[in-house]
Amino acid sequence: MLDFSSVKDKVVIVTGASRGIGEAIARCCAANGMKVVCAARGMEKGEQLAGEIQGNGGSAVFRQTDCGDPGAVKDLIEFAVDHFGGLDGIVNNAGIGLGGFPLHEYDLEDYDKIMDLNLKGVFAGMKYAAEAMFKSGSTGGFIINVASVAGLLPQRGQALYTAAKFAVVGMTRTAALDYAPYGVTVNAICPGYTLTSMFDGIPDEAMNFFLRDCPAERLGKPEECAYIALFLASDMARYISGAAIPVDGALSAGSKNMINWKHPEIRSAARRV
Ligand SMILES: NC(=O)c1ccc[n+]([C@@H]2O[C@H](COP(=O)([O-])OP(=O)(O)OC[C@H]3O[C@@H](n4cnc5c(N)ncnc54)[C@H](O)[C@@H]3O)[C@@H](O)[C@H]2O)c1
Repeated sequence: MLDFSSVKDKVVIVTGASRGIGEAIARCCAANGMKVVCAARGMEKGEQLAGEIQGNGGSAVFRQTDCGDPGAVKDLIEFAVDHFGGLDGIVNNAGIGLGGFPLHEYDLEDYDKIMDLNLKGVFAGMKYAAEAMFKSGSTGGFIINVASVAGLLPQRGQALYTAAKFAVVGMTRTAALDYAPYGVTVNAICPGYTLTSMFDGIPDEAMNFFLRDCPAERLGKPEECAYIALFLASDMARYISGAAIPVDGALSAGSKNMINWKHPEIRSAARRV
């Protein structure tokens, strides 16, 4: 039977928690009794979120952090340990998108922009959180990295983002091997097209492309990533480590081909989303 009570009172850091997928994960963890350190650059929204969680009887605190700065990530983890007395897990979610053009059109500075946050920031989060979890004596430790379908299947026009996300998946699987004997699970969640501010202001033409491209013919909801994160944080998932789990409406499952149903009446009866 599904039982999420094991997450109660676990201390978790969620980076990039002020909006989008990170916010949904922070809310879901807090709603299930976890002690949540919400980290993001945006102070106002982050404090508002932590205040709202507290107002609903949950336990959360906001810490302003630039996750592209490894020193700031180290401070964040020390803060979490001081504030809640230990650490059980981290969700390395903060990330930016940058691209939509061929590789040669990237500037050299774009490389640092993407890698500093999407890769080095995740590395720093994993490194300092792992040390803190071991020192805390956590018995149900977990690291969850929010990668992307671009970490499983290269995305045209996203050379640097794809490189960073493939590296995050590689680092996730390696650390899973490193920590498996010591009871810390390490997994990645790989969202597909998910309705967050990453899609703010995109032209209709682009939105229609994403809808057509995704086999499920819809965008994902941030909560759909949060449910997986909660499960991975729970003791029901202690034997799951080194996985890169797509939450993408089958986007990374393979390429789409022409298909004709032999029985169109059954197709008409099939529920459309
Ligand atoms: N939305 C999608 O379609 C999608 C698809 C695949 C993967 N992802 C990944 O999911 C993660 C979250 O994306 P989202 O769609 O929720 O984005 P978002 O832009 O809605 O939220 C990003 C969050 O990261 C924070 N952030 C940005 N730069 C930061 C920094 N330097 N330090 C600390 N926090 C910072 C922002 O404040 C915000 O809270 C990212 O790693 C992204 O690559 C998103």
